[in-house]
Amino acid sequence: MIVAIDGPAASGKGTLARRIAAHYGLPCLDTGLLYRGVGRIMLDRGFDLANVAIAAAIAENLDLADLDPDRLRDRATGEAASVVAAHGPVRSALLDLQRAFAGQPGGAVLDGRDIGTVIAPSAEVKIFVTASPAERARRRFRELVGRGDLADTAEAEAAVLADIQKRDERDSSRADAPLVVAPGATVLDTTDLGPDAAFAAALALVEAVRGPARP
Ligand code: C5P
Repeated sequence: MIVAIDGPAASGKGTLARRIAAHYGLPCLDTGLLYRGVGRIMLDRGFDLANVAIAAAIAENLDLADLDPDRLRDRATGEAASVVAAHGPVRSALLDLQRAFAGQPGGAVLDGRDIGTVIAPSAEVKIFVTASPAERARRRFRELVGRGDLADTAEAEAAVLADIQKRDERDSSRADAPLVVAPGATVLDTTDLGPDAAFAAALALVEAVRGPARP
């Protein structure tokens, strides 16, 4: 069984993906990390994010094992990821790795922007997780403050909201694999749901296809 979980920035899709994967004992891939990895290397080496050829070469040589999620969660890396993710050759370079992960015997859970549309269009379960921009900004802000990355001020929260709106716009309007609800996906709006209620709702969608996890 392939579970495809897509959605905009800070929608909680990553948390849901990890919990569903743990529940069913499936491997899980946060595909945003791949784009974040490319963006971070571009920033560290001082390359222009608009340089498609360099970004694509970095993507070609990216090794999942080298990606440290803790180093890739900050705002600047997220922003750089969304710029390089709009380059078609970068997306193509990362395609095989993601499809191979999705095609593992026994199945997998992947989260991102184009899992249900491009990476695994035949996934048995497709969920589009979303929440209002203000709620997503609030969650991302709390996470960044909790990590000590941001000051706990109204200005900082407004800046996070502006980032999220910019990222939504860029991810939804790009020509290659834009963020859209995949055909056959169920939209799960978590604006008014806590983490456990969101997980229960997502699990119900998976169980409708796969049945309860076997002990
Ligand atoms: O999900 P996350 O915020 O980590 O993703 C960072 C950026 O990577 C997104 O804003 C998006 O531009 C890009 N991305 C993508 N396709 C994916 C996953 C992430 O374009 N499957």
